[in-house]
Order: sequence, then structure tokens, then C-alpha cells
Amino acid sequence: MTQDEIKKRVAEAALDHVVAGTIIGIGTGSTANHFIDALARIKHKIDGAVASSEASAKRLQGHGIPVLDLNAVDDIPVYVDGADESNRYLHLIKGGGGALTREKIVVAVSRKFVCIADDSKLVDTLGRFPLPVEVIPMARSYVARELVKMGGRPVWRQGFITDNGNLILDVHGLSISEPVALEARLNNIVGVVTNGLFAARPADVLLLGGSDGSVRTLT
Ligand code: 5RP
Repeated sequence: MTQDEIKKRVAEAALDHVVAGTIIGIGTGSTANHFIDALARIKHKIDGAVASSEASAKRLQGHGIPVLDLNAVDDIPVYVDGADESNRYLHLIKGGGGALTREKIVVAVSRKFVCIADDSKLVDTLGRFPLPVEVIPMARSYVARELVKMGGRPVWRQGFITDNGNLILDVHGLSISEPVALEARLNNIVGVVTNGLFAARPADVLLLGGSDGSVRTLT
């Protein structure tokens, strides 16, 4: 199977976690896109969705799935999204697609976070994938200097503006042995909106697709 076929297979497996008659939280990226396409087949069973990006909202609406404003929703039983890396404790790096802040907000409201990924994303130590950090534009250089002091090599994602009107610094060279502590430390830098570590609130379930078509469940 190709990596894209694995993503599709694991996205389809996540349909088992959808709770009928509720609002579902939807992530962003190619794996989440496969999930949206699969969800369209059972759209009559759900009341609607909250999207973590404009792109996902557009795709959901294209399938005729109602998209709700998060402020109008107080309960999301399940959120489904991909990841760039996961460790064995389901601490994640996310934000390769730049939607990390809205993803983190929708996760915060959700009771269960089902992460879907191909098994190349499972690592012993987070950090091979550059860690995305969303930054208020005027703070870009200051935050970059602070990240260098912490041992990282921040690279400005040129030409990219988040749905919130901010910038992304992708931080290379971090070996993240303490994800919960680093997540908090990075978020304490003035000018950082949030960073792509999902460790204080990790995934609850990780569905990992293999090249043989298998789907493993880690909790
Ligand atoms: C977007 C994300 C994505 O979940 C992450 O980048 C994985 O993407 P893909 O499913 O395309 O591999 O965090 O902000």
C-alpha cells in the first residue's frame, strides 16, 4: 500500500469511533481529509461538525455536512485528526499543515481525541519533525531568538499565514525528552500563540495504519 492508501484505510477505521447524534470535531491535513470523505458516507448519523481550519470546513461543506461555530457547541464527544509524530505515550507533534492552534482549541473542548496516522509517524523521541510554533507577526524575530537560546533552529515558514493571521516558525534540532514541560515553556514565550506539542493534552487513542493494510490501536 502507498502511504496515502494507508492514511485512507486508517481514516476509515476511525468511523467506528463516531458517536451517532452528536457533533464531531474534525482535524486538518491529508489524513483528516480522508476521514472527512469517509464521514460523508454516514453524514445522516451525525448532527454536524466543528472544523479546525478553513480548509476542513470547506471540505465538510462540500459534502453537505453542517459546520458549526465552536462557540455554539459545548460538547464534542470525539475529535479525529492526524499528526506529524507520536511517541508511545500519544504525545504528538502537530501543525505540519499550520492549523495547530485551532486544532488545540477543538481538542480542548473534546472528550476523546482519536489520532489517525500511518505507522511511520510513531517515534521513540519526538523532534525529528520540526516543531511548528505559531507566532504573532511582530514578535517573529524576538521569538526566534528565544528559540535559539533553547537550542532550537527556527525556520520561518515563508509565504504561509495561519487562519488566525499569524506566522509559523518550524523549529529544527530539538530532541524532546520532556514534551509536557517543553510545551508549557514554549507557550510562555511572549508572542507565541501556541506550539505544536500536544502533550499536556495528548491523544486518547492512536490508530496506526501499516503497509499490509492492518490498523493497530494504541491507548
Ligand atoms: C495539520 C496537522 C496534521 O494533522 C499533520 O500535519 C499531519 O498531516 P497529514 O495527515 O497530511 O500527514 O497537524 O496542522
